[in-house]
Amino acid sequence: MVQCKKTPKKITWKSIILSCYKTNSSLQETEKEVLKQGSFQRLSLSDITKSSSVEDISNSFTGSKLYTFTLEELREVTHNFSRSNLLGEGGFGPVYKGFFDDKLRLGLEAQPVAVKVLDLDGFQGHMEWLAEIIVLGQLRHPHLVKLIGYCCKDEHRLLVYEYMARGSLENQLFRRYSAAMPWSTRMKIALGAAKGLAFLHEADKPVIYRDFKTSNILLDSDYTAKLSDFGLAKDGPEGEDTHITTCIMGTQGYAAPEYIMTGHLTTMSDVYSFGVVLLELLTGKRVMDKTRPRREQSLVERVRPLLKDQRKLYHVIDLRLEGQFPAKEAQKVAALAYKCLSHHPKSRPMMTDVVKILDLLQDFDDIEKGPFVYVAMDEGDDRDHARRKGGKLKERKPTKKKLQYRGTP
Ligand SMILES: Nc1ncnc2c1ncn2[C@@H]1O[C@H](COP(=O)(O)OP(=O)(O)OP(=O)(O)O)[C@@H](O)[C@H]1O
Ligand SMILES: [Mg+2]
Repeated sequence: MVQCKKTPKKITWKSIILSCYKTNSSLQETEKEVLKQGSFQRLSLSDITKSSSVEDISNSFTGSKLYTFTLEELREVTHNFSRSNLLGEGGFGPVYKGFFDDKLRLGLEAQPVAVKVLDLDGFQGHMEWLAEIIVLGQLRHPHLVKLIGYCCKDEHRLLVYEYMARGSLENQLFRRYSAAMPWSTRMKIALGAAKGLAFLHEADKPVIYRDFKTSNILLDSDYTAKLSDFGLAKDGPEGEDTHITTCIMGTQGYAAPEYIMTGHLTTMSDVYSFGVVLLELLTGKRVMDKTRPRREQSLVERVRPLLKDQRKLYHVIDLRLEGQFPAKEAQKVAALAYKCLSHHPKSRPMMTDVVKILDLLQDFDDIEKGPFVYVAMDEGDDRDHARRKGGKLKERKPTKKKLQYRGTP
């Protein structure tokens, strides 16, 4: 995570943190849903600085239900935040699996949940926690992860989400020793994530997500993609403004070049990050490869120039797919990634257009492969390139394979 160099205004931090302590007792004792149905105007992320308490903020929420939980309740459902319940850990802190029974709250059904716990020694803090509540407490969509509730006790900050059975796209796409993710699944995920991003951009008050990457795309059991982690989200420009200016934060490799250079942020910065993820889906390779020489580490720099060339394109599509993808559609996806990754923000497509294009590319029937086939090769594997006669991709019949391991993915 690239950290912002500027420090947030002191009054803002202090007043909100203090006010959270102040309202703590009411948060603890209550079992009420803090988010009320209503027809209020959606609260902006910039309003965080003006708000005096998390309860004041919650009063402005519309149409969603968020529950407050005590630390003890969340400790109990995660078996005292045990290691065996640990799902992963990011910049905010560790994430644990828990299970709610139907007696915990009236109206809250029995379900598995993911509990994210703020690391008190980490870089993130109350503001990121609050941003998550402000965005996910007010915006609900099939492609945004559902926030069920939160806990605010002393300095502790926790968030409770619906449990996403397949974890993050990062874990699924780059997992070793498992079958390659089929083409149709990749396209389903790309479409779902695009819909989530388009929804944010098209909201009455547009939201710039700012942290679009494979680890923030969560997958449920049928690979429906949902965006998570809104700690870096920003309100989009309003009125005559074309961009907002903000300190540079995000993750190396995913942030748009103009944003890194100038701090100017637009929804098109998200489109660039989307292009990066699309490239990772196409190639099965990570955005940064620190094992390569410095000049070759960036996937975008390495691969973007090849996307427009039909012959070269086939050398970069994930070899683990073993030709199980539709050639014409793959070209369209590559062309889309190329546009999203344009250096000129205005040349990038809007996310609504990305959704339209991806919607038309969903019909490929993968041929079922065995569950434990693993083939991994480098971009430059000559044996495989020889199969791709004349640069054109020949669809290979699936063969019964044993576990094969050839090089690193
Ligand atoms: N709702 C959820 N359901 C299931 N697993 C989850 C859920 N939320 C997070 N996880 C798991 O926890 C891991 C850590 O998530 P988190 O968002 O905190 O960090 P990250 O995305 O890996 O890093 P970063 O801080 O840069 O965003 C994820 O990769 C995922 O495997
Ligand atoms: Mg994350």
